[in-house]
Amino acid sequence: MPNKNNITVEKTRDGSTTLYSSLFEQPYHSRGGAVGESRQVFFESSGILKKLKNHEDIHIQEIGFGSGLNLVLLIDYLQKSGSESNIVFHSVEAYPITSEKASDITFGESLDRKNYTQILEKIFSSLSAGENSIGIHPQIELNLFVGRFDELPTPSEELVHYIFHDPFSPDSNPAGWTVELFEHLNKISTDQAVLTTYSAASSARAAMAVAGWNVARAPGALGKREMTVASKDPVRLSHLKRVNEKHLIERFNRGDFERG
Ligand SMILES: C[S@@+](CC[C@H](N)C(=O)[O-])C[C@H]1O[C@@H](n2cnc3c(N)ncnc32)[C@H](O)[C@@H]1O
Repeated sequence: MPNKNNITVEKTRDGSTTLYSSLFEQPYHSRGGAVGESRQVFFESSGILKKLKNHEDIHIQEIGFGSGLNLVLLIDYLQKSGSESNIVFHSVEAYPITSEKASDITFGESLDRKNYTQILEKIFSSLSAGENSIGIHPQIELNLFVGRFDELPTPSEELVHYIFHDPFSPDSNPAGWTVELFEHLNKISTDQAVLTTYSAASSARAAMAVAGWNVARAPGALGKREMTVASKDPVRLSHLKRVNEKHLIERFNRGDFERG
């Protein structure tokens, strides 16, 4: 795996930090606010908060572990809501940061730093290539696969209910938006699973549709016009405006989109 990836810590406008990757030439989150963006895209738009409130057990697959912000937010939601949900959190990361870098991360005033710095240092100091199962919280089983998206193993036990699709934008990282990856995610998901992502790119939505997902538009985070919510079950998208999947599939098959 090429490793010329210089990763630096940057401040975003809500006071939280994000990382910047020289390899992908991208910040890991919106510069408008890392925490605000992640809350809206992965938690408020997915329906997961209702499941936490109802104490339901949840399996999540994240694509792109990055700074661990989504995991930290999940812990915060669990703690603040008093939810008794048990969570299995699968994620994948080809370029894990060092634990020294992890200790420079701050997620702003809405999250208590002492609740996450030790957890992130523990995670990033103990990783090896392949599957890593790390104890971080009594209600969370973290399975972090260190490797590429296209090497992602099929979880051996239960199917996942939510997919946090967070691989950088389609332009800067086509490997995160292939039909093969969305087919894999389809295969490992329950019939009611929900996938959320910040991208509103037609090429991304087309790849999801080709892989068998129903696809809808949702209001984007931090002033961005749109993001995307997908599910195998159209009922889960009934409150949203659907895209025309048939038309996108036709365009995809005509070669209108560059293949990742
Ligand atoms: C937008 S960041 C993820 C942000 C993260 N979810 C968080 O909460 O901080 C995308 C991540 O995907 C990783 N990545 C990009 N391409 C990859 C690939 N082909 N395989 C595995 N990881 C990859 C990057 O190294 C980066 O950490």
